[in-house]
Amino acid sequence: MEKIVIKGGKPLSGNIYASGAKNAVLPIIAASIVGTGTSIIKNVPHLDDVTTMNELLIQMGVRLTINDTTNVEICADHIHNPRAPYETVKTMRASILALGPLLTKYGKAEVSLPGGCAIGARPVDIHLKGLEAMGAKIKVENGYIIAKADRLQGCQFYMDKVTVTGTENLLIAATLAKGETILENCATEPEVVDLTRYLINMGAQIKGIGTSILKIQGVKTLHGCEHNVIPDRIEVGTFLVAAAATGGKITINRANPEDLESVLIKLREAGAEISTTKDSISLNMHGKRPKPVNINTAPHPAFPTDMQAQFCTLNAIADGYSIVTENLFENRFMHINELIRMGANITVAGKQAIIKGVKQLNSAQTTATDLRASASLVIAGLVAKGSTEIFDIHFIDRGYEVIEEKLNQLGANINRISY
Ligand code: EPZ
Repeated sequence: MEKIVIKGGKPLSGNIYASGAKNAVLPIIAASIVGTGTSIIKNVPHLDDVTTMNELLIQMGVRLTINDTTNVEICADHIHNPRAPYETVKTMRASILALGPLLTKYGKAEVSLPGGCAIGARPVDIHLKGLEAMGAKIKVENGYIIAKADRLQGCQFYMDKVTVTGTENLLIAATLAKGETILENCATEPEVVDLTRYLINMGAQIKGIGTSILKIQGVKTLHGCEHNVIPDRIEVGTFLVAAAATGGKITINRANPEDLESVLIKLREAGAEISTTKDSISLNMHGKRPKPVNINTAPHPAFPTDMQAQFCTLNAIADGYSIVTENLFENRFMHINELIRMGANITVAGKQAIIKGVKQLNSAQTTATDLRASASLVIAGLVAKGSTEIFDIHFIDRGYEVIEEKLNQLGANINRISY
């Protein structure tokens, strides 16, 4: 077993590079299934979730090699097992992204129904309704989604909720469907845009990239291509909040400020001085204590739910009251109890966390509960005086590449200890 030990109290300073985006590379690797020939996906982060997705495709029969530190070469011409088994799906919900690609290319798919997770029930009803609207026959047996379709038919489909992977699954499925598909109320997250760019590079006919209405003209085949994954805006946002919380000054290279507009606005409101170029973001907190900022999570371009936990930590030491409202997931305040154990003054009432900033957090032994909650605890450890320990750190390895190395490069004192 391993734990992270952080000796806090030092402002972060220096430069780091952003890694490729987890939530872009996962749908892109899944989408490579619909290609004929080889795709080379570049700037792929080394994350447990990416390893799981790679293994999922390999056990289907996909030829997948990591041909240097960040490039993955994929040929999906010989899939003999269009199936995503329970043991894989239960460790990574994004395995549901294999459903649309398998169904549209092979006419059948067996994907374990993803259960809920720490942050909520995480239903996939919209994924299934959309595929049925395209003519798929879908039943759920023994916890598996069994889907069949001779050839999916284009249709007009309105998604009742803005769903990122729902949009991605249906978009990929529509690329090889017969005729035109119009998807309405689509997610417009940068990761959805990156997937759309990859599909268009494969020869897909898609109009409305980056908007909530996507029009897809189905084609007979798609070819492999090279694709550079966008930087991970949530990793970037996490490091910026860590720098703001510790009163530091950092620059993150290979970061796209346009993908983080709402987060940069909130960091400026918290008192950070921010400057940007087309591929970097610099933050200087000038040693100041942050001002409290109210947060309301919502689909892009509004404030991202994946940055909510990190801002709870920033607000926990801010100079005044703030309210953080989580509108997407019903149980995404698991980090709050751990922050309270470190001296934070937070009350949760339904979808809202009411935070009264305190001057100082105290180090403690804490436990991670989900990916972004673990990031909020790392930030709390960087701020607290003394030595904070974080257990169950496998969560953090799902979504942050070599987080200790990057933080130590910025002057932190954080180590991974086996015990
Ligand atoms: C994606 O999850 C991300 N994961 C999540 O990031 C992110 O928090 C979430 O989008 C919201 O931005 C990946 O991209 C791999 P949703 P996803 O479908 O697609 C409801 C992280 O930390 N809904 O956009 O599963 C759902 O209950 C992870 O990196 C339905 O009701 O989220 C939620 O309330 C965590 N029916 C809302 O939509 C459906 O069929 C948004 O969920 C699908 C979703």
